[in-house]
Amino acid sequence: PTGLLSDALARPLHDLRISVTDRCNFRCVYCMPKEVFDKDYAYLPHSALLSFEEITRVAALFIAHGVEKIRLTGGEPLLRKNIEGLVAGLRALRTPSGRPLDLTLTTNGSLLARKARALKDAGLDRVTVSLDAIDDTTFRRMNDVDFSVEDVLGGIAAAHDAGLGPIKVNMVVKRGMNDDQILPMARHFKNTPYILRFIEYMDVGASNGWNMDEVVPSGEVVRRISAEMPLEPVDPNYTGETAARWRYADGGGEVGMISSVTQAFCQDCSRIRLSTEGKLFTCLFATRGHDLRALLREGRSDAEMSSAIAHMWRKRADRYSETRTINTAGLARGTRRIEMSYIGG
Ligand code: GTP
Ligand code: 5AD
Ligand code: SF4
Ligand code: SF4
Repeated sequence: PTGLLSDALARPLHDLRISVTDRCNFRCVYCMPKEVFDKDYAYLPHSALLSFEEITRVAALFIAHGVEKIRLTGGEPLLRKNIEGLVAGLRALRTPSGRPLDLTLTTNGSLLARKARALKDAGLDRVTVSLDAIDDTTFRRMNDVDFSVEDVLGGIAAAHDAGLGPIKVNMVVKRGMNDDQILPMARHFKNTPYILRFIEYMDVGASNGWNMDEVVPSGEVVRRISAEMPLEPVDPNYTGETAARWRYADGGGEVGMISSVTQAFCQDCSRIRLSTEGKLFTCLFATRGHDLRALLREGRSDAEMSSAIAHMWRKRADRYSETRTINTAGLARGTRRIEMSYIGG
């Protein structure tokens, strides 16, 4: 059950996010800008990546410690060869509580039409798809590789048909770039089975040149939508949910607001991240990870690995988003922050 492990701020460990590749076929301006992630960028060599066997072994240890939710991310997780093989391996794991493991994946949708059926058959529960605009020109400008909105919508529909729902659609809002898409996106996804979530642009990584002026506070998003389509708040599904839920007063469905900048949710953060090369990060903004791959490849036993994990979680005191202002000033003086594509969104 949850709560087997508590960190220094009494937060349980519930959610494991696994980055399966540091590569992506998109170059979203806020995540993998072209100037940095060019043809000379040093991605991890294959031997550095955790194998599926290694990932599954680590996941089993986390499940024994109370993890009941696993999200595969990246980079673009569908670029990892035979990703459905990993899904099947994880699906076979059993939680001590007997409650089913929530097994999900975040994708840009580009390969979803091709992969949805195999992912469902392997036992994936649901997917979350990133889409930053419904206007094609704006979307192409944001992914910076000329990928069309239509193809992503095709991927979403294929996932829906395969039964990979409820599907959430994530939109990162960057002022001056796609904030004019807030209303068109809301209109498009209203009265559909899809839950649209607006994400405040974060100062994650070191290459996106983040600036507070480019953040559109969720409060403003709610006001803008409500002026045309009234919204009312809904209670969270579970403690520590990243998104605050809102529903259309006319019954047109639900939207979510992920306000990691203006209303940080560190207080209930039960997430740990496993990077592509097997480093554990206790916070999205941690500057260094704990090298689990070294333990794996030194031939440590499950018991040894398990106690290393427990030790790390018990010591955890991260709450970066709640202390952002101080940290941002400190980090500006030279500490290297980890890229989101490496640590996993
Ligand atoms: P559900 O299981 O569907 O509720 O999804 P989720 O909200 O746990 O995960 P998702 O991958 O959809 O998260 C959406 C976005 O929220 C991420 O891409 C990040 O931008 C942000 N986010 C998720 N987790 C954290 C976190 O721990 N800290 C911060 N600061 N942001 C996060
Ligand atoms: N701010 C907020 N979310 C981000 N993502 C990537 N970079 C950022 C950022 N700077 C998230 C988006 C995307 C997922 C893969 O990672 O939610 O959908
Ligand atoms: Fe790729 Fe997602 Fe980053 Fe865009 S946000 S570059 S799709 S990993
Ligand atoms: Fe959790 Fe760190 Fe995000 Fe806060 S900033 S919610 S502690 S991952």
